[in-house]
Amino acid sequence: MIAAVDSDRLSTELATLASFSESPAPAVTRVVFGDMDLRARAYLKALFAGASLAVHQDPVGNTFARWQGRSPGLEPVATGSHCDAIPNAGRFDGTVGVLGGLEAIRALQRAGFEPRRSIDLVLFTSEEPTRFGIGCLGSRLLSGALAPSAGDTLKADGRSLNEVRRAAGFVGALADVPLSTGAYSAFVELHIEQGPLLEREGIDIGVVTAIAAPASVRVVVDGEGGHAGAVLMPDRHDAFLAAAEIALAIEAAARSTGAVDTVATTGVCEVFPGAINSVPSRARLDVDVRDIDLGRRDSVLAAMGRACDEVKSRRGVAVRLEPINADPPAQCAPAVIGAISAACDARRLRHRRMISRAYHDSLFMARIAPTGMIFIPCRGGVSHRPDEYASPEAIARGTEVLADTLASLAK
Ligand code: GLV
Ligand code: MN
Ligand code: MN
Repeated sequence: MIAAVDSDRLSTELATLASFSESPAPAVTRVVFGDMDLRARAYLKALFAGASLAVHQDPVGNTFARWQGRSPGLEPVATGSHCDAIPNAGRFDGTVGVLGGLEAIRALQRAGFEPRRSIDLVLFTSEEPTRFGIGCLGSRLLSGALAPSAGDTLKADGRSLNEVRRAAGFVGALADVPLSTGAYSAFVELHIEQGPLLEREGIDIGVVTAIAAPASVRVVVDGEGGHAGAVLMPDRHDAFLAAAEIALAIEAAARSTGAVDTVATTGVCEVFPGAINSVPSRARLDVDVRDIDLGRRDSVLAAMGRACDEVKSRRGVAVRLEPINADPPAQCAPAVIGAISAACDARRLRHRRMISRAYHDSLFMARIAPTGMIFIPCRGGVSHRPDEYASPEAIARGTEVLADTLASLAK
């Protein structure tokens, strides 16, 4: 059986999906439970139904499209990814795994393949942390890594996750979201690499062996505000300048491990009251620290804590650290790694093993199912930017490898 991918159709569908955006093209912004997210979901669900998949949603909006297998009593195999996009993002992050997953299933259907195990295509809710401050909301809940009480405690602009999801039409109890361990016999996610290695080395496919451990922390600095002209420099307790020193200390801590896999980013800085003629009285930083090695990642968090103490006493400000999440790394399953590698070999594609520095829904699916990821090259390694790009050929190759992997796991 040779599954052949319809690359033109897949490109057209990716372009249509990109048109559901809160920012003008080429940028894509699609925040979970916003109007564009709901329109994108409606578009995708219609495509899923068009491929004769049985579609259902859970209370947080994770959407499952099932191709029923010959032995429906066996645990299904699953694939999928997300369709939400951070502000000012591109069109390929997540969507390649959703529409590529759909096209892989359609290619298998066209080839006359009849899976023994059912195959589920999963559209995960809010892989991006944009709205509720925490990434992989849907897969965290599915895997039991996030308690259902998060429905009341997670807030966005003063509204709880429960209020926002219900208003978007996703009702029912979050306690009904978790899947039991073993609910899927395997999970495999197709994704752009979001890094430069595959393109640089001229390699078609990355076979992911492990996913880095992400942690995020909010740093709130309270200083003393006042008139920008009148408060004398020696008397100042500027919250922003203290926060700036903390951000630089975090960068230094990440660099000091000497490991290329340690990364730290201060991606959010809010200054209050935010007026040019007012000394900042409060600053908030949101910091993201990652490493494939948990101990090294945690050593950066510890160094960050020490830097906060030092800046606090030297500048006479108050500093509060609020951990948002600190997830362990995930290992991919040898059986899924083997199936992906065999699919690459059969298609004579150049492939290499690699880790994922970005996190994915696979980080949480790995807690309940043997999991693997297929990476394809993206231009310049660019992601989370409007100029993110993966060629139709690269997407087609990844989709073919996904189709063959699903066929081997579901046969
Ligand atoms: C996912 O989008 C990540 O930030 O790794
Ligand atoms: Mn992303
Ligand atoms: Mn993604």
